[in-house]
Amino acid sequence: MKDHIDIANSKTSDQFITDYLPSSNQWRSWIHPATKAEYQITLQTAETLPKTNFDACFNLIECTSGEAYRKSKDGWKPRSKRKEMRLLDLKYLLVKLDDQVEGFLSFMPTYEDEYPVIYCYEIHLSPALQGSGLGRVLMQYLEVIGDKIPGTAKVMLTCFLSNTRGVAFYQKLGYAEDEFSPQPKILRNGTKVAADYVIMSKNISR
Ligand SMILES: CC(C)(COP(=O)(O)OP(=O)(O)OC[C@H]1O[C@@H](n2cnc3c(N)ncnc32)[C@H](O)[C@@H]1OP(=O)(O)O)[C@@H](O)C(=O)NCCC(=O)NCCS
Repeated sequence: MKDHIDIANSKTSDQFITDYLPSSNQWRSWIHPATKAEYQITLQTAETLPKTNFDACFNLIECTSGEAYRKSKDGWKPRSKRKEMRLLDLKYLLVKLDDQVEGFLSFMPTYEDEYPVIYCYEIHLSPALQGSGLGRVLMQYLEVIGDKIPGTAKVMLTCFLSNTRGVAFYQKLGYAEDEFSPQPKILRNGTKVAADYVIMSKNISR
């Protein structure tokens, strides 16, 4: 039997774009509705992402979500975050204005609890882009990709519960708590301890 996730991950970036991104090529740019500035969107892999762009993405994560990480059980671990950002099959939809990184979405076609899924690792936009509609647009590309990779069941992601804006954004887009999201633990003394993150997913309709 063909492993379509494996096939997707073994494609070159150009092949991946041809086979899985919208054929119209309109995804390559996006116009800010308020400022009318035209942003460029490219597909990068963890391997091809230039060091300066990699650092800009890392800084964006720390800027938008550093506080949520620091408050979480595992804390902010810059070294392991950088390592995760270099995972072999990780791809980036990189958003730039005048060659400056203004946002990105990283994702990976993978298996999660034996389901073939598109996993959204990160989505971070600079303050000027937050609330602009770009977040929805980028997330929709993941559904397009999932739709085109045969057998893909859902788009998945993890979000800190402390990021109430993030959770509300995903809910608005039709994401709900996934069946594999961690449930509260009951300690021996009966105290309920909730996880500090939620796994959310959206089924890919066919
Ligand atoms: C989260 C983020 C990616 C969302 O992108 P965005 O461009 O700001 O969101 P959009 O403008 O596309 O919003 C899409 C929809 O979600 C809704 N939405 C966005 N934020 C919301 C919020 N806090 N509460 C309720 N709805 C919200 C919008 O109203 C919009 O709905 P509409 O199209 O019906 O009006 C962006 O704000 C961001 O980068 N935030 C900081 C980083 C972060 O938290 N990332 C998530 C880590 S898990």
